[in-house]
Amino acid sequence: MNEVVDKALRGMALLSVRNIRHWTDRTFSFRCERPAGFRFRSGEFAMIGLMVEGKPLLRAYSIASPAWDEELEFYSIKVEDGPLTSRLRNLAEGERIVMRPKPVGTLVHDALNPGRRLFLFSTGTGIAPFASVIRDPETYEKFEQVVLTQTCRQVAELDYGRDLVARIAADELLSEMVGDKLTLIATTTREQSPAMGRMTDWIRDGRLATATGAPLNPETDRVMICGSMAMLQEHKAICEELGFIEGSNSAPGQFVIEKAFVD
Ligand code: A2P
Repeated sequence: MNEVVDKALRGMALLSVRNIRHWTDRTFSFRCERPAGFRFRSGEFAMIGLMVEGKPLLRAYSIASPAWDEELEFYSIKVEDGPLTSRLRNLAEGERIVMRPKPVGTLVHDALNPGRRLFLFSTGTGIAPFASVIRDPETYEKFEQVVLTQTCRQVAELDYGRDLVARIAADELLSEMVGDKLTLIATTTREQSPAMGRMTDWIRDGRLATATGAPLNPETDRVMICGSMAMLQEHKAICEELGFIEGSNSAPGQFVIEKAFVD
């Protein structure tokens, strides 16, 4: 490796990729090796990417695998002319990505006070951090009921989340940990499906309360939100109208938000 690349890579981990899966024209997931000693909290993100012309081209990606997993998993959108995703989408098994091993983020248990129900609201690839959170034992130790919602334009975009929940149910250890606490509410907005509409509308018109047994309540419920800026702002406004207080790592609260990064 030449000296320039060597310098650019200082502090970075090079990780071999496996299990690449293209879910739709717009989304794919992959797994990669986890560097020895790399610790993170379920729900956090890290900077990952590729070496391009001798320099690391990095973007923030939520780690979709839980903290106990031996591998790392990522779920990504494909942007036609996106500098990183247009290259990442062509990854082949055995090729290597780079990662800056400094995980951060607010979609973590440490940023929430104790509660009875945990709501994880996502749109599109915003489900990625929750793919981690719903496979973490702490989630089920801390909450009696966990509701994951994902809203996408098309039905096929819901496959990653549905497959994930089906794999949890089929896994002996995970299903024992989760029991009957986890519910997935998957909705579409631009293609016909059994459950349609934005989750913001479901909250306002009472469909979410019907589906989960009770309306959102800051006394009993904790909320994590991940999606586009518009989606975050609308969910945040609803939470605040209902009296939820935003939390952070230094001051835990009743709801937390984070942008689904790559776009
Ligand atoms: P819609 O089809 O009604 O715009 P996008 O790909 O634009 O990020 O959208 C992903 C999903 O998020 C779509 O189903 C979209 O619904 C929904 N969405 C977009 N904006 C909001 C919002 N402000 N609140 C809730 N859901 C939203």
